[in-house]
Amino acid sequence: MSESTFINPSLPTAEKYLLLEEQVKALVYGEEDLIANLSNIMAALKYGLNYFWVGIYKVTGDQLVLGPFQGPVACTRIAKGRGVCGACWEEKQTIIVSNVDEFPGHIACSSATKSEIVLPIKNKKGEVAFVLDIDSTKLNDFDTEDQKGLEKVVTIIESIL
Ligand code: SME
Repeated sequence: MSESTFINPSLPTAEKYLLLEEQVKALVYGEEDLIANLSNIMAALKYGLNYFWVGIYKVTGDQLVLGPFQGPVACTRIAKGRGVCGACWEEKQTIIVSNVDEFPGHIACSSATKSEIVLPIKNKKGEVAFVLDIDSTKLNDFDTEDQKGLEKVVTIIESIL
């Protein structure tokens, strides 16, 4: 396993995500523990892409519960439909928010967050089992290229659930 997951920030977005995808595949290779794998994937995302907060919420009953993450402490429970994470779970699709102040019901775990992307992670039955939340301190920091790259990471996570 490589010790460094640094990715050169000046690379084109698509290349950064290709490198990230390879790192994530290598990190989970030969390990079947989900918490260990999710923890390392969050670290690879945080230190590879340098976003403010990167984490997983797990669908638990009618709430999302905080799972492995990298960044400042965060809200532990989010109800279905609430905030960007709850909306992603309810709508079963990726949500990009370019300015969190303009998203009705946004949950501000940190006032430093200005934009975010949340992706659903589905189990073998096609139900949302987790959401992946990535927060940036810059406005408008996520676009469809980020979505495409992160969806590849989500596909890897779905394959190890
Ligand atoms: N902003 C999210 C809540 C999670 S934290 O930002 C880590 C939301 O509105 O769902």
